[in-house]
Amino acid sequence: MELKLKIWRQKNSGEKGAIIDYNVKKIDPDMSFLEMLDVLNQDLIKSGEEPVAFDHDCREGICGMCSLVINGSPHGPDKGTTTCQLHMRRFKSGDTIYIEPFRGTAFPVIKDLVVDRSAFDRIQQSGGYVSVNTSGNTVDANATPIPKPDADEAFKAAACIGCGACVASCKNSSAMLFVGAKVSQYSRLPQGKVEARERVLNMVKQMDKEGFGNCTNTGACEAHCPKGISLDNILNLNREYIKAKIRK
Ligand code: SF4
Ligand code: FES
Repeated sequence: MELKLKIWRQKNSGEKGAIIDYNVKKIDPDMSFLEMLDVLNQDLIKSGEEPVAFDHDCREGICGMCSLVINGSPHGPDKGTTTCQLHMRRFKSGDTIYIEPFRGTAFPVIKDLVVDRSAFDRIQQSGGYVSVNTSGNTVDANATPIPKPDADEAFKAAACIGCGACVASCKNSSAMLFVGAKVSQYSRLPQGKVEARERVLNMVKQMDKEGFGNCTNTGACEAHCPKGISLDNILNLNREYIKAKIRK
């Protein structure tokens, strides 16, 4: 395959970026999208140019590091697919592909296609955990019976990989799907109930502090989430937040 690429290049967060045109040849349809970018970068290095910076780690859909807005869609055209799991057979030889970074006030561009998503880390640090006794008298997990529907819902919420596509797809750059998933993951389990009030209040406070917008129910986040995180998690986040405020 041969492709025309239009890629966002930006030296650093302080300088203006621009879309630059590139051509790549000899792309195998079975290559992943990131492998296609590896080929481009090899060509750029050989010709003495700066390679395109992009994020990746596991390349198997579990770490949440890969990003990229591909032809206007965070993680590209396939539903339930991360950028690293997208394959070139999804495109045709001769296609023009636009590749841009995830955008949002709280996700500033560091370089080219790499954005700073540490705002998500700070939200997690503010409450996305449970305190458990690890002093030698820990209780076996199976000793706490959990209704199957609750366990299933918690497990589905825990599938969030923290990639940020929900923010990149939202016209308000809202992080409520991400925060909703993290809050729901714990609020549905007995182990998470102890700190439930502080968790939701602190995580929402941090989310607002980072500059993420609010949810206006367009559903773009759910449509672009590679892990199928449901909007129900935002409902649950609102419910938990109201409960926590009333209990004040
Ligand atoms: S909710 Fe979905 S889109 Fe948002 S961070 Fe989690 S996995 Fe990524
Ligand atoms: S590189 Fe880990 S999810 Fe894509």
